[in-house]
Amino acid sequence: MSPILGAASPPDALVRDFANDVRRDLALTPKQIQSKYLYDALGSCLFEAISRLPWYRITRAEGKLLGRCSQDVVASLADPLTLIELGCGSGEKVAMLAEALSRRRRPASVHLIDISPTALELSERTLGRFEHVSVVGHRATYEEGLRRVAGQRSGNGAVLVLFLGSNIGNFDPPAAHEFLSEIRGSLRPGDGLLLGADLVKPEPALLAAYDDPLGVTAAFNKNLLARMNRELAADFDLAAFAHRAVWNREHSRVEMHLVSRRAQQVTIPKADCTVRFDAEEFIWTENSYKYAPEQIVAMGVAAGFRARQQWIEPDARFALTLFVAE
Ligand code: TRP
Repeated sequence: MSPILGAASPPDALVRDFANDVRRDLALTPKQIQSKYLYDALGSCLFEAISRLPWYRITRAEGKLLGRCSQDVVASLADPLTLIELGCGSGEKVAMLAEALSRRRRPASVHLIDISPTALELSERTLGRFEHVSVVGHRATYEEGLRRVAGQRSGNGAVLVLFLGSNIGNFDPPAAHEFLSEIRGSLRPGDGLLLGADLVKPEPALLAAYDDPLGVTAAFNKNLLARMNRELAADFDLAAFAHRAVWNREHSRVEMHLVSRRAQQVTIPKADCTVRFDAEEFIWTENSYKYAPEQIVAMGVAAGFRARQQWIEPDARFALTLFVAE
């Protein structure tokens, strides 16, 4: 049965990891839950819906840029090219590069790395239409997947890692540096990294993107609570929590919170814990950092890359930067 429609429960080991992380991170101050847990089957569909909202412009802006620059991106990289997309979503973006290659009859392989089986399935379907492109999905974290694919590499073709959307913005600056360095460590000189990153813009536009008037983003965030109810037998009352997005100017990031509307206690049997919330206390679920264009270049350079080109979508204020491993 399709993981989108099916009621199949996740494997025991994954539920155990989720339970351990929840127990540890809800004991922190402020309480937290890692944002990777937003993307279960329902969460992936909700994010897919977010990417179509008029207020969330990142996905469309990036698509527009990719449409313009995909030939330039792949032009300088050696065949046979291996594309590795970290966090593939629906596969539409890597498909634009595959299209550029396929049009020139350049052979390529695509490796999709995502922890969400729904994302892998959608992406494999999206990429199925290209004749000269072989597609392999890896259900893994970015680090695991990258190591796996880099370890199997043979021949002289280049690798192009795609880290798109504003996924880099979900890391705090030290973690972003570490992650880009890890990507660099798995590459050879001449390989590429195409990095998507959202730019700083006026606060109302930032807040509308992360707290849309239709409530889809609220549903996406609250699905974390619903997921704990489903998988960990928790008893979160979804109506007793509110979604909140805050622009933290000092750190240049939008913070996503789930705010407890009243004092309450929640039990999470499969995580072996009971959690107390004060009124107004929140669970911190995600950061989304926003950058200046030159900060993005500096991040790549600090991790051992040279910036080859940067494309900026001026209306939504979003940047794609092509780095080459030195
Ligand atoms: N990586 C996306 C971003 O930061 C994820 C995202 C969009 C998100 N809307 C969200 C994460 C709302 C949590 C809550 O733009």
